[in-house]
Amino acid sequence: MAIRKIAKMGHPVLQRVAEAVADPTASGIVHLIADMRETLEDIQGAGLAAPQVHESLRLVMFHVPALRNDEDEAAIPLTVLINPEIEILTDEMEMGWEGCLSVPGLRGLVPRYTHIRYSGVGPDDRLIEREATGFHARVVQHECDHLDGILYPQRMTDLSQLIFESEARHHIAPVEGE
Ligand code: NI
Repeated sequence: MAIRKIAKMGHPVLQRVAEAVADPTASGIVHLIADMRETLEDIQGAGLAAPQVHESLRLVMFHVPALRNDEDEAAIPLTVLINPEIEILTDEMEMGWEGCLSVPGLRGLVPRYTHIRYSGVGPDDRLIEREATGFHARVVQHECDHLDGILYPQRMTDLSQLIFESEARHHIAPVEGE
């Protein structure tokens, strides 16, 4: 295992549509997942997408600590999702502060759908299908956007709410990096 270098906003790997993973159980994918897990732990983020470690593949991982979940749901343990699909289940969007390991030092107020269903396969090639609300839904939308070359500033509707972390105390308490 190894901690991978994180690609930052402006790197072309973050701007392209990532390729589907042909075989989730291939040794290269197993290795990538182990490295991403170690990288995410090291950097203490909520989630990480493969393009952020310079691999243009449709693979994300994320977790949601219990306290982060607005809806008082159980914590979501670290989940690896390969070839994910999102279905939007509401018209309602909610603003929330986001950060991104690929946009270091900044925070932004981003609208996200409040209720989604997502599916994909896990590292064991088994189907994962869940509904998500609140912060859980936000994290999944943020991570899956990475697979389509989209970073959170591109989802913002008011760029006056793109701020430096060091000024975050003037605003709503921001979330930790995603
Ligand atoms: Ni991100």
